[in-house]
Amino acid sequence: MKKLMAANWKMYKTADEARETARALVDKVGSLPQDREVLIFPPFTALHGTVEAVKGAAGFNVGGQDVYPADEGAFTGEISPAMLAACGCNWVLTGHSERRHVLGESNTFVGQKTAYSLAKGLKVCLCIGEKLEEREAGKLTAIIHTQLETGLKDVPADISPEVIAIAYEPVWAIGTGKVAGPKEILEAHAIVREKLVAMFPATGAQMPILYGGSVKPDNASEIVSLDNVNGVLVGGASLQADSFSRIVLA
Ligand code: G3H
Repeated sequence: MKKLMAANWKMYKTADEARETARALVDKVGSLPQDREVLIFPPFTALHGTVEAVKGAAGFNVGGQDVYPADEGAFTGEISPAMLAACGCNWVLTGHSERRHVLGESNTFVGQKTAYSLAKGLKVCLCIGEKLEEREAGKLTAIIHTQLETGLKDVPADISPEVIAIAYEPVWAIGTGKVAGPKEILEAHAIVREKLVAMFPATGAQMPILYGGSVKPDNASEIVSLDNVNGVLVGGASLQADSFSRIVLA
């Protein structure tokens, strides 16, 4: 299975800054190893420039950080799957913890976005993860199960593992510098894998599971070598081409 090395630029970078960073990233990475793919999630306003910057670079993909589950309509501020595709995106993130916990998105809404985007031909990276108080209350498995059940609710049982990825991101490790240890990552990813196989008996074993939360150039190599870790979703350390290129090649 290819490792998916994903950069989430969140609400950072103007269109020009994104174009420049993406160009520098392509230069620094050089020819991408066959077993890797790069996914870049810039802000909506920087999608076009980022797509232009990575054009022709094999294994580089661009995606939206969010999407609305409709073709068009009176949904001020929202972006449809078709609009993302027309910009040159082939991926989209759904359910990022900042969408859930800062913008108040429900599990149900995340599930609608996921199923709709897949139906419209985008590949989806569904983000899940527990808050610290949920982990401390012994709810890790329950939270992962609920977020997968609701997030993938209307996804066809025979969905190709090529078009879906799960990013496990413990909320307490995002942007805090507190990376989950190997034991915690192994435990959570095993729970995710088991649930995916239960939900998608034919394809769940091949669905990529990414880890996210304070991934840096100096811990990426250990993290991507763990069982059931098929890539990483990186925030802060993806903003500079130098540090993200080191993660991509880790
Ligand atoms: O989408 C990325 C995650 O929120 C991780 O962010 O690498 O800054 O902790 P971080």
